[in-house]
Parts: sequence; structure tokens; C-alpha cells
Amino acid sequence: MTQSNSKVSPVIAYRKGFYYELKAGKRYLWCSCGRSATQPFCDGSHVGTSFQPVAFKAERDEDVIFCGCKHTGTPPFCDGAHSNLPGGYRTDDPDSADNRSVRSVPAGDSPIVQLDGQCYVFSTSRAPLVPRGAMSHCVVVSPALGALFQSQFYAEVAQGVSPVISADGRHTVLFVSEGDGEVEISGRRFPVSARTGVYIHPSEAYRVHNTAATALKFFISNGPGSEDLVWLEDMPLGFDAQYPHRDASVDPSQRHKMAERYYQMLVNREHGSMVVTQFIGNIPLSKAEPHRHLYEEAMIVLNGAGVVWTERTKTIVRAGDVLFLPRKQLHSVQCTTPGGFDVVGVIYPGDNPSINY
Ligand code: FES
Repeated sequence: MTQSNSKVSPVIAYRKGFYYELKAGKRYLWCSCGRSATQPFCDGSHVGTSFQPVAFKAERDEDVIFCGCKHTGTPPFCDGAHSNLPGGYRTDDPDSADNRSVRSVPAGDSPIVQLDGQCYVFSTSRAPLVPRGAMSHCVVVSPALGALFQSQFYAEVAQGVSPVISADGRHTVLFVSEGDGEVEISGRRFPVSARTGVYIHPSEAYRVHNTAATALKFFISNGPGSEDLVWLEDMPLGFDAQYPHRDASVDPSQRHKMAERYYQMLVNREHGSMVVTQFIGNIPLSKAEPHRHLYEEAMIVLNGAGVVWTERTKTIVRAGDVLFLPRKQLHSVQCTTPGGFDVVGVIYPGDNPSINY
């Protein structure tokens, strides 16, 4: 007897996405019913139900994550829906026998604590800053440090005005972590305060105005990445009015729930940022099950403390630390602060931080 999709849910075949390497020109038949024994592909087990497999042809060689829970809104690919299914977002016991054998890497004098592979934690509080006018900065993430897609810099501006910085043909995203002031983008000024994100188009330049006696602290992300910032003598005009909305603030009504966690997009395509996506999220007192993403990520810890885990290593993180995660790096972020902590992530390529495998 044929079943109705409006009444029958698909079987949850797997509570995460399936990583797969597509081959250009090849055809695939994704299982939508969840009954196939050859996941994520159809084996004909849907016969007799109202479910049908989803056929598609790969246009290029590409790494993808197929939906395993069969509840995605973007079939056949994962959209993170599994996190909100009952039991979907799993936590991990930091005191399990396996986890007790993970080596703890202490912080030394260097701002960098190296974990597995190219993964590391960068401490802005231990980094020497290079002064230039009213601003001083350091490199946090760059191609020389192992990044393939993005760079990140940490900067402080004392009372006054920073030098002019060129976007230099790169999509650029700022995040203000402390202070109040204005970001001037190719002649147009936007007020900013702590937890404001800002988007700068590749053709533009920017500088920061700080009228307060305390420093304005912020992070600069760009993609494709660069080894350092590019300075200009003068502020060019030429604000790209096609994208007038450039600043983004925390707005609880815009939160996306991910089990007990949540995130809010700050800067993304709606601002004109086509390759770099910035979000702010909250992690409760817990350790996530180890997982991987297909995007590269730089994650800033805004408050509290926790532990970052990879396959064989772990290290403590605190406010002001940045976790650099290469694509496909197995990892888990544990919050050890009772009230949870907040993070800001910048991901590239990709625009959905809830997709994982
Ligand atoms: S077996 Fe699930 S759609 Fe064919």
C-alpha cells in the first residue's frame, strides 16, 4: 500500500552527513526514504512507499556532504537539520577512556599552541602587536600559517584614527570585540560597538575612528587570504552603493537553534560578502561529539573558557583566543564555563555553520 509523505517521515538512516567525493559527469541516486542498505544511495527499498530517490549529475569533481538523516531542506545535501532531530546533536564525555588518553598541550611563550595537523589556537593576549599610527596589529591566520582560503588579523586602535587599509581585492569582514567608534568605508561612516560585524567590498578601503580613551579592539578577516594588511596614504572614495547595508549586530530574534546551541548570521551574502561568512554563536557547558566541516574556520572565543580537542591533542582556550580549523579537521569544542560561552566564526567556503559530518 502506498504511504503518504504528509503522514510518514523518512527513516533516519544516519544522524550526521555523509562525506562523499563526487566525480564530474557521474550520475547519483540519493536515497530519500532512509530504508536503503547502501546509504546514502538508493537500493530500491523505497518501493511500496511514497518516497522517491533524488537523481542528479555531478557537474565537477567536488567534496560534498550528503544528508544522512533524510530531513534536509536542501536534498540531497546536508543542511544541518540532523542537529535538531531528537538525539541529533550529540555530546561527548570528556572523561571517557578514549578522551583521557588525549594529550594536553600547554601554552608556552609563543601565541600559537599547535594541535594536530595544521590546526592551532592563537592567543591575542600573548601576541606582540606591530604599531602603525594609532593602530597596532598582529597576524592570526594566514597562508604562511597554513590557511588555504582566509586570513585573520587582530588590531587595537587607541584614541584617534587608524591608518587607511585597502581591501586589496579581497572580501573583508570586521568584528569589533571591545569599544565603540566608527568604521569609515571608502568615505561612508558606520557606528560600531562591541559585537558589531562589518562588511567591506573588495574594491574599497577602510579605517577606524575611536573617540574614546580606551582602545577599540577588532578582528579583520579576508578571503582569499593575504599575509598582511595593505596600507594606503589616503582614503579613496567609491563606496559600493549596491550594498548599502554593511554593519550587523546581535539580534536574538535572528537566532538559529542547533540543539542546545544557537547561532546568528552576522555578515553573509545579504551584505554582499560572497565568499566569507561570519556568525556569532553560543556553546553551553558541554563537549560536542567530534565532527568535521568542509569549510575552513577561524573561531574567536569571546568570553569564558573551554577546551579545544582534535584527534590526539587538546588545549585550553579563553576569551581572546582564536581556533584555526582547516577543512576536514576532526575537532570538538568543549565549554567549561557554567553559563556557556560565545564565539564568532568566520567560515570559507560555505555559508551554513551547522553542516557537519
Ligand atoms: S531506497 Fe530510499 S529512496 Fe530508494
